Amino acid sequence: MPRAQRTYIPAAGHDWLLPFYDPFVKLMRGALAHRQLIDQAHLQPGQRILEIGCGTGNLTILVKTLYPAIEVVGLDPDPKALDRARRKADRQRVSVELDRGFSDELQYPDVSFDRVLSAFMFHHLKRDEKKQSLHEITARAQTRRLPTPARLWRGTRPFRRFSRSPTSPK
Ligand SMILES: C[S@@+](CC[C@H](N)C(=O)[O-])C[C@H]1O[C@@H](n2cnc3c(N)ncnc32)[C@H](O)[C@@H]1O
Repeated sequence: MPRAQRTYIPAAGHDWLLPFYDPFVKLMRGALAHRQLIDQAHLQPGQRILEIGCGTGNLTILVKTLYPAIEVVGLDPDPKALDRARRKADRQRVSVELDRGFSDELQYPDVSFDRVLSAFMFHHLKRDEKKQSLHEITARAQTRRLPTPARLWRGTRPFRRFSRSPTSPK
């Protein structure tokens, strides 16, 4: 399907609720989950990291703030969320790449990331989108191991590479 016609569930469920997304995440102490996720990912300077479904950039910006020597790319289909992410990154003077796109059709070369992260995002996908996203992630990240539900639950090695957490693109 052409990208312009694809729908997606935006960060707060509806476009008009987007301004309330960051205050809500703050209220729910989302930053704690982001920190845990970053700890599990065992990031190292010099790596290249992709966050799929970066929304307003909370995790993407936090990774770059904690690890300035990491190249961080955030991907999201929602241009309004990406605008917010860009403004936040500018305010905090962190340099991140923010791309528009879908997690199940990644436009990056194979094996171009050391880690692929996501937070509060997989429940926005339909079943077939989840499956295709996992295929895309394994192709783009430096691993060929798919995370089994059991491994994900136990937080064993593959979970470090795949973390967890539909408006039409304009
Ligand atoms: C709840 S927000 C999470 C934002 C951010 N990861 C965070 O932790 O604050 C979920 C995001 O997933 C994005 N999303 C929805 N469908 C997507 C898809 N197919 N591919 C990539 N991102 C998608 C939404 O636009 C939204 O910004």
